[in-house]
Amino acid sequence: MSNYVLLRHREIPDIKELKVYQKQGGFKSFKNAVANQTPREITDIIKASGLRGRGGAGFPTGLKWSFMDQKNWPHYVVANADESEPGTFKDREIIEENPLQFLEGLAIASYAVGAEAAYIYLRGEFWQLAEFLDSKIKDLEKAKLLGDKLFGTDYSLKIYTHLGAGAYICGEETALLESMEGKRGQPRLRPPFPPSYGLYGKPTVVNNVETLSNVPQILEHGAEWYQSLGTEESAGVKVFSLSGRVKNPGNYEMPFGSTYRELIFFYGGGILDDAPIKAILPAGASSAILRATDEVLDTPLEYASIRKLGSDLGSGSVIVIDDTISMDWVIKKTIDFFKHESCGKCTPCREGTYWMSHLTKEIASGDIKEEQVDLLLAVASNIRGKCLCALGEFSVMGVLTSVERFPEDFGRKSKTEG
Ligand SMILES: Cc1cc2nc3c(=O)[nH]c(=O)nc-3n(C[C@H](O)[C@H](O)[C@H](O)COP(=O)(O)O)c2cc1C
Ligand code: SF4
Repeated sequence: MSNYVLLRHREIPDIKELKVYQKQGGFKSFKNAVANQTPREITDIIKASGLRGRGGAGFPTGLKWSFMDQKNWPHYVVANADESEPGTFKDREIIEENPLQFLEGLAIASYAVGAEAAYIYLRGEFWQLAEFLDSKIKDLEKAKLLGDKLFGTDYSLKIYTHLGAGAYICGEETALLESMEGKRGQPRLRPPFPPSYGLYGKPTVVNNVETLSNVPQILEHGAEWYQSLGTEESAGVKVFSLSGRVKNPGNYEMPFGSTYRELIFFYGGGILDDAPIKAILPAGASSAILRATDEVLDTPLEYASIRKLGSDLGSGSVIVIDDTISMDWVIKKTIDFFKHESCGKCTPCREGTYWMSHLTKEIASGDIKEEQVDLLLAVASNIRGKCLCALGEFSVMGVLTSVERFPEDFGRKSKTEG
């Protein structure tokens, strides 16, 4: 058995070819599910495995599937392949190199929630990946692993790719659904959530590419096996996208419970020019920024432990900052991004990101004035908790935490200096 759960192509390079994937047991789990198991049984296995969503929020996957409104049909599944968070590039590798495992996971999820049509929503820049997936879907149809009346049953499944136009907000699941319906990509007011009111107003499960790619392996090896790979609170493995000031940036699959120290210094080879490590952005541009203390570096990577440190694991896009970089520059970069990507639907985010961008530019220009930093904190605090979707919340995380945790970079004394 491969040492990898998701990045299996690193040991089996041709796993993207159907024949090779099938030789490795591929599509047996889907066939067995459709032919011999009920949708409820599949959902229960995924619940028992402890799998949580890898798109950022970490919501329990089996539980989400069980929320589908049984009185409203048809049902849909949408794979979220938008992957627009700066620093996240794991879904792209999975699709490029291990696409059939992802497609099998999507097929199993569809069967588990009774969907006979599934969609893959890809950001516009991923048009080559969409063409590649289309060719893989054709192979599966030819092999009668997708299509009408599968394996002699009444269950049929079609999978379609759908390209967005390249907007970060379209990774947010309700903006994604609006975009799929041909509307402007802006989030919906919730509740209702997609499992009761999703695509075309029908019950819909939206799951991340990495989340779905775990599913075939869980069915093949069992829920207990998956649980045993991680920790009690965070089951299984996670692909971390490591970037920033490290020697070996890249995707690394690690069991939950590993540490930032292992990720950055073992897999990542340490800091460029062996400079001292300064900060970690655990979840890309959306991060509450952590000071890279020994305590942080040695904390087990789990959803709850990272929250206790005052941040979030998110989609696992770890950006490393060393002591050659000042945090006022970091937040200027992240705020510029959020200002550009704000969809404009609600005022605190639309106007607030504009003003934060203006202030961070002034602050990063070098002439830091006490009142500019105070004003920046005031704007950020007023955005917080007043937005329609999480993008507005994400936009203030870096600002609030970097001023609090790196006061020296904003011309302020640290608390210990008095
Ligand atoms: C601004 C914003 C951007 C997001 N971008 C993505 C994305 O690119 N990919 C993704 O899977 N989830 C993204 N999400 C999370 C999705 O809304 C949703 O929670 C996720 O696709 C659910 O799948 P999961 O349960 O498998 O994690 C984003 C959320 C927000 C608020
Ligand atoms: S918080 Fe920002 S991105 Fe989200 S709905 Fe409001 S304006 Fe749009």
